[in-house]
Amino acid sequence: MDKILVTGGLGFIGSHTVVELQNEGFEVVIIDDLSNSSIKVLDGITSITGKAPIFEKMDLKDKSLVEAFFKKHNDVKGVIHFAASKAVGESVKEPLLYYENNISTLVYLLKELKKLPEASFIFSSSCTVYGQADELPITESAPVKQAESPYGNTKQIGEEIISDTCKVTPNLKAIALRYFNPVGAHESAKIGELPIGVPQNLVPFITQTGIGLREELSVFGDDYPTPDGTCIRDYIHVVDLAKAHVVALKRLLENKNTSNYETFNLGTGKGSSVLEVVQSFERVSGKKLNYKIVGRREGDIISAYADTNKANKELGWKAQLTLDDAMRSAWKWEQVVRDTN
Ligand code: WQD
Repeated sequence: MDKILVTGGLGFIGSHTVVELQNEGFEVVIIDDLSNSSIKVLDGITSITGKAPIFEKMDLKDKSLVEAFFKKHNDVKGVIHFAASKAVGESVKEPLLYYENNISTLVYLLKELKKLPEASFIFSSSCTVYGQADELPITESAPVKQAESPYGNTKQIGEEIISDTCKVTPNLKAIALRYFNPVGAHESAKIGELPIGVPQNLVPFITQTGIGLREELSVFGDDYPTPDGTCIRDYIHVVDLAKAHVVALKRLLENKNTSNYETFNLGTGKGSSVLEVVQSFERVSGKKLNYKIVGRREGDIISAYADTNKANKELGWKAQLTLDDAMRSAWKWEQVVRDTN
């Protein structure tokens, strides 16, 4: 079966995607610099699938290492590119760190793929490119807006770099997958989200509050123009998201793509408010969550959820798992992580 490179393959979405690739019989080689992940994730993946991916600890910012990698692994048929810095707040404080890490690495990868007889490239993008969309649900033809952060800008620039390269590189086919909000963990609780330090995202903060690691959740504003006043997002189970990557990769490997650069929104199509996520946690855990309403968080948009028609019809993929499934798996994972740490 084809050999696939997964950059950032020990990260949250990357590790779940490696599991699904192995389940489909692909040979996987992971590049990860371990700057925002743990080598223990490799054991988690192996214990789920029974197969150890090839692992190379590597900094993709080193162009010569990227060139050497493709000389050694010249049988790579496809790349799924997750490796990037992704903390919105940090990107505002450290823009050059984000432009170097998220853009130069992409350029070095694409320069190597151009040399291959043919290459399939899946890019980890984000609904953040839409900013606050004018129309909901959000379709792939919604305008890409001025990014709210350097992180979001690196996703927009990344898509443009890939699109421009594909226009003049007939042997390169690419798909940008625009994720909504990835949450949850593998049902085995052997891999999941491992935020470093205080979680910035809602769901890990909820589960850490549930387990007693955090005093209480701060809900960032309940005065938004939404039914319960809190922001709405499209929370997609990370396993559904991982499966979508395999479907997208196969679309390219089997030449089913309709152009050599495509974009797809990956969401459930259902919006959930912050308080609805809290209620979901309470339902699946049987625990009351401590939370308080505080002021709005700078840069938050009011509401975002996906129009999933294009992914359902053209990609042939649809999210199967619910918010409760995601919260149940996230909570199970949190309890395992706390027991083993
Ligand atoms: C969700 C909602 C918060 C924490 C970000 C990135 C996006 C993607 C996913 C990488 C918001 C509220 C949160 C808390 C809260 N990352 N919240 N208390 O901001 O939608 O998206 O992560 O690709 O690019 O922008 O996700 O989980 O941070 O917030 O009330 O302690 O939960 O205000 O309404 P977000 P989030």
